[in-house]
Amino acid sequence: MLTTEMNTTRLIEEVRDEVEAARARGLRVGCVPTMGALHEGHLSLIRRARQECDYVLTTIFVNPTQFGPSEDLSKYPRPLETDLSLCREEQVDLVFHPDESTMYPPGESTVVDVGGLDSIWEGAHRPGHFRGVSTVVAKLFNIVWAHDAYFGQKDYQQQLLIRRMCKDLCLPVRIQTCPIVRDPDGLALSSRNVYLSDEERQSALALSQSLKLAREQLAAGKEPSAVRAAMLEHLNGTSNVAEQYATVADAETLEELDHVRSEMVALVAAKVGSTRLIDNELISLE
Ligand code: PAF
Repeated sequence: MLTTEMNTTRLIEEVRDEVEAARARGLRVGCVPTMGALHEGHLSLIRRARQECDYVLTTIFVNPTQFGPSEDLSKYPRPLETDLSLCREEQVDLVFHPDESTMYPPGESTVVDVGGLDSIWEGAHRPGHFRGVSTVVAKLFNIVWAHDAYFGQKDYQQQLLIRRMCKDLCLPVRIQTCPIVRDPDGLALSSRNVYLSDEERQSALALSQSLKLAREQLAAGKEPSAVRAAMLEHLNGTSNVAEQYATVADAETLEELDHVRSEMVALVAAKVGSTRLIDNELISLE
């Protein structure tokens, strides 16, 4: 694999200097924010940034403020050395991997709340999660000064919320959303998949299967309420799976739909064993 000179830093000032120098050379700067434990999904974001930008920066920071008290912050995987070599292989120019005290210095008290979108679906099941996400992403954007930032469609609500935040706060960064990467059997890649036992991994296929069901039934003319019921039945009928929500929503507002629209998104979240997984599929009817 081709490798390139890659810098790494924990320091905000160093990021600012490097990005300013890149911009002064007329380079387009792309940023891929991550929490590490990089998999093919993240690498697809980096590759897209590499294609579209001249200078690619990846951030690796397991952001504590987006984890609830009963969530998996302490056991979240942190394979930094492996992540850095993957970034090197993908010819990333700079990896910013700050300490917690750099991102959240003592006494800091400002948060970013994106109203509305932050309290439904994921927001309802993970109170405070999106406040943590929007706050850290706003900080990262203020540190990195990128032209483009790359997010996965897998976190569909997250990318909508970040788009909303950028629009509302006039942040001059273009949000690029990249397709979900799946294993051949349909399971959406996630850093949390490593927690699944073999049996649970099999059960986890119920998520992507319920989305396929939604796509097929909507295409066959069924109304969203009937489709939702079928998704729930499929999830509830699978061992190890405890559904949290399954819905067909407007692709922009995430409002639950009674009648089909041209642009819809099917969303699903479930616990598989003790691992919480999400998945989604954009569905447009001609
Ligand atoms: O999607 C993620 O990995 C995180 O939510 C993000 C955007 C890096 C913020 O911590």
